[in-house]
Amino acid sequence: MVIQVDLELLARDAGKAVGRGDLIIVSDVLRSGTSILNALTNGARAAVPAMTLKEAYKLRSQHPGYLLAGERGGKKPKGFDLGNSPLEFTPEKVEGKSFVITTTSGTAALVRSRASQWVLVGVFLNARAVAGKAEEIAARGAIGVSFVLSGEKGKFSLEDFLCAGAIAYRFAVDKVHFSGKVQAALLAFRQAESDLTGNVMKAEHAEHLAKLGFKGDVDFSCKLNVLGTVPIYAGGKLTLP
Ligand code: MLT
Repeated sequence: MVIQVDLELLARDAGKAVGRGDLIIVSDVLRSGTSILNALTNGARAAVPAMTLKEAYKLRSQHPGYLLAGERGGKKPKGFDLGNSPLEFTPEKVEGKSFVITTTSGTAALVRSRASQWVLVGVFLNARAVAGKAEEIAARGAIGVSFVLSGEKGKFSLEDFLCAGAIAYRFAVDKVHFSGKVQAALLAFRQAESDLTGNVMKAEHAEHLAKLGFKGDVDFSCKLNVLGTVPIYAGGKLTLP
């Protein structure tokens, strides 16, 4: 059976992918997806996404052992242990620990997708690995695959679109059928890949992060296919299988 692969450009449309019964790949390259992936790869036990600051503070009061991570306006909120810089999630800080994470757009995209049976986190770092995992699960379950782009404050984001293309590029071409939007992402990625960081820097959010002093986060987030780990979101938590 050929796997249908589709794409939702805006996180608020995640429900359409859920309605199709698709496996969902949520992409938030800058920066929550990259941070969650890096934290779990560095030994964190689980990440619990929260949509609002209020929910995050409440979760922490219910689980005092959890770390609190995330951002508003790119900066670490009051009382948080960690911000949203992927480079902060070192083994020293996160190994063996669970953390609540709330960010402006990325964690909301995850929460909007959670009714799907399968939700994976896909960013540039694990593009090849997430394509392999999604293809395997979708073939086994005879279901489609949808990308849900987190975007930024409800708007389209170039880096998440390019990331969908980077992941699509790693699917076995004879096993999948791409929608027009996925084809467009793939073509855009192929055009951008020789200077991924330079092209991602053309996006507004990357510029904003660089102004805040987080250019290093953009550089790190644009590394392609360097991790083989794939976070899976189930039962309200992201873990590595
Ligand atoms: C988000 O979820 O909106 C981003 O991860 C924001 C950020 O780069 O900190």
